[in-house]
Amino acid sequence: TPSYNIASIPGDGIGPEVVSAAIQVVEKLAKTLGTFQIEFTHIPWGTAYYKETGRYVSEDALDTLRKFDAGIFGAVGAPDVPDHISLWGLLLAIRGPLQLYANVRPVRTFPGTKCPLNTATEGIDWMLVRENSEGEYAGQGGRSHIGQKWEAATEVAIFTRVGIERIMRFAFETARSRPRKLLTVVTKSNSMRNGMVLWDEIATAVAKDYPDVTWDKMLVDAMTVRMVAKPQSIDTIVGTNLHMDILSDLAAALAGSIGVAPSSNLDPTRKNPSLFEPVHGSAFDITGKGIANPVATFWSAAEMLKWIGEKDAAGKLMTCVENVCASGVLTPDLGGTSNTQGVVDAVCAEIEQIKA
Ligand code: NAD
Ligand code: IPM
Ligand code: MN
Repeated sequence: TPSYNIASIPGDGIGPEVVSAAIQVVEKLAKTLGTFQIEFTHIPWGTAYYKETGRYVSEDALDTLRKFDAGIFGAVGAPDVPDHISLWGLLLAIRGPLQLYANVRPVRTFPGTKCPLNTATEGIDWMLVRENSEGEYAGQGGRSHIGQKWEAATEVAIFTRVGIERIMRFAFETARSRPRKLLTVVTKSNSMRNGMVLWDEIATAVAKDYPDVTWDKMLVDAMTVRMVAKPQSIDTIVGTNLHMDILSDLAAALAGSIGVAPSSNLDPTRKNPSLFEPVHGSAFDITGKGIANPVATFWSAAEMLKWIGEKDAAGKLMTCVENVCASGVLTPDLGGTSNTQGVVDAVCAEIEQIKA
């Protein structure tokens, strides 16, 4: 039987709660099916580690991760550390340097969630593709005259032909793999006349290789309107690091809740291990209460299983999770009364019912 080694990076806040929940159900699944083996290795990176060592990750972090088949990540961010320190110390120190350039965020209405739009009669089913290695998250810029009246700061977005072309191809492939074969390329090429214009040019060029995909261009501001007013006209969306960060939270809310939204940080070349995480953050307001919704991390774990080659197991896990949600075992964010462990136990009981 195939065997996988997974890095587990629970991180901060509710991260450890939802990652532990996901490990419990994946281990239960592996044991029940008996078709694969999986081992999770705990990696203690996060704010506690930072307070002890002065670093959010170990010095050989990238090489450490390269030993694994994939990683599962919870969240990072603490009330007493500036967010740009914690995020650049951990999450953004992995995504860019490991070249996990495709961030894939499926969004659909889920049993137990409801789209708040009455324009979306059949719910929502979108695939968001986010450029995950450059753009507005290049981390370049600086400040001068700090504290003075004429202080100035720059935050420089960097867009490269290689970076745009690879995410554009990935997006067209993704659109092609879905029944509707529909892609919307989101930019802001009216006000941003360099990088965004390059995005438009590359989209037009790459599209020629995908005559079976119907595609259009949309400015990001107009796209927010379309997501609300004509949700059924959308299938796959591709855009920059920042634009898709914002649109993916909007999409999650329109599909019903951020508590179920998953995210895959992929290296499509498979040179480096990919990292799977919920879209949400450390949620200080509910940390330690045991009520975090684990479904986003379950779904992320299912995406991970799919990526490492356990497609069948991934599908079975999702069916079990959906059955549990449909049965009304839901955390308070979805209007339910269950706690995190209650959802874990219900999913494990559902897995128990699978006839392999
Ligand atoms: P957040 O996602 O942590 O929380 C937003 C709201 O959603 C909160 O009310 C929270 O209780 C709720 N929520 C989020 N996940 C939930 C879940 N699984 N179950 C139930 N409710 C849930 O966003 P924020 O408040 O903007 O950020 C808090 C911290 O997390 C900040 O430090 C931020 O930088 C960080 N953050 C980290 C990541 C990440 O590590 N991937 C992502 C986003 C934010
Ligand atoms: C996300 C998060 C991160 C991002 C933050 C925490 C740096 O919001 O994964 O969506 O902007 O990428
Ligand atoms: Mn975000």
